[in-house]
Amino acid sequence: MGSSMDRSRCVLLLAMLVASPALAASFDPASTFEVQCSGCHSVGRGVVVGPDLAGVTSRHPPEWLHAFIRSSQGMVKKGDEAAKTLFGKFGKVMPDHDFSDEQIDTLLRFIASGGPKPPARFRLARTATPAEMARGQALFTGAAPLAHGGPPCSGCHSAGPERVWRGATLAADLTRVYERYPDAWLTRALLESRYPLMAVYRDRPLTDDEAFALKAFLYRSSRSEAPADPLSSTVPPFFLGIGGSGIALWLARRSRRRPEGVE
Ligand code: HEC
Ligand code: HEC
Repeated sequence: MGSSMDRSRCVLLLAMLVASPALAASFDPASTFEVQCSGCHSVGRGVVVGPDLAGVTSRHPPEWLHAFIRSSQGMVKKGDEAAKTLFGKFGKVMPDHDFSDEQIDTLLRFIASGGPKPPARFRLARTATPAEMARGQALFTGAAPLAHGGPPCSGCHSAGPERVWRGATLAADLTRVYERYPDAWLTRALLESRYPLMAVYRDRPLTDDEAFALKAFLYRSSRSEAPADPLSSTVPPFFLGIGGSGIALWLARRSRRRPEGVE
């Protein structure tokens, strides 16, 4: 037992030494998947030429996946039942891939974490990870700088149940703004800096990723458990109690006040 442990540790060490850091760094699972797998596979978007790979890491043990990705036909020829069944079902040959174990593991982790993400511009805020929402908060407050040098949102807005940025009263409190607009509308509003006072961003536009992170932060703050502070909230408190019709009425009133050129 002990000696086999030692041996596997040794193999691991050797593997780490052999795998050149430069090579390991240049293996990007997203672009590899895009170039070498996505023509035949999706992750969670249905069958393409081969099966949908969502959940594939729980359908097969890792050794099987390694062997199959290297040579699916080799597995079929060896008489592996699972490989034969899959080939029988899809009737197409999956090409062999000359990847290292480390590269396959990286690829499998990428698949297990949901695979390719749609471009930030088209992502819904609710698909954001907690880290992306936290980044949005950092961008909002100025804790993290915006790539093109725009001012932090907290210079004019407050947001979040924490009300840390209460001081900024020049423009609307954005805590609940996510509830009031369609997700894609907010993305466009942020990328196109539609409001006159937000013209500061025209020369220093937000990147797609920044707009997404900020939207994700606004999404999180709109869903937070903490009750909106009735004094600084832009949602009139009496509408909070009466639900959909009240909000709709208020939205209708609000849309008449929107600046020109904004639908
Ligand atoms: C030319 C099309 C094609 C390409 C490219 C391709 N595959 Fe496949 N893949 C298939 C087909 C077809 C199957 C079904 C089994 C078979 O035909 O052997 C399959 C099956 C699989 C399976 C088993 C799925 C299951 O549901 O059990 C995995 C895992 C897999 N492929 C991973 C990959 C990965 C990772 C890549 C990219 C490195 C890739 N494939 C590239 C066509 C392809
Ligand atoms: C220079 C001041 C300023 C800065 C900085 C600023 N905004 Fe604004 N923002 C405004 C003004 C003014 C409006 C128009 C509506 C209002 O008065 O609240 C507005 C409107 C908005 C709206 C629509 C609000 C609504 O209720 O319809 C959103 C969303 C928004 N801003 C997000 C942001 C984000 C995200 C940032 C940071 C990237 C930001 N703003 C930075 C001034 C600013």
